[in-house]
Amino acid sequence: MSDSQVPDHTVRIEPQGWVFDAPANSTVFMAARQAGIRLPTSCRNGTCRACMSQMLAGEVRYVDRPGLTREERDEGWILPCVARPMSSLTLHVPEATPWDAPR
Ligand code: FES
Repeated sequence: MSDSQVPDHTVRIEPQGWVFDAPANSTVFMAARQAGIRLPTSCRNGTCRACMSQMLAGEVRYVDRPGLTREERDEGWILPCVARPMSSLTLHVPEATPWDAPR
């Protein structure tokens, strides 16, 4: 835990196998950025769906209603730009790159 209020989780990005810490009060996107990993993104407010990624394991929460259908959420799709981890996560994001890699 980073402090007594906010437990940390880990996020694993597949197929790269990268793992980073993700505080429960941070979005998955910002935790990845802190770890030097660039996830697909555009609006960063949960509306454009550019970051839509498959969650293979774990649980996330949203502060605001995300731009996903119930079926998409049931199938494990998440929006990392606004999703906050409630557990350790495994995501399938083949488009993820090191933050400093050329785009
Ligand atoms: S970047 Fe637009 S929904 Fe995530």
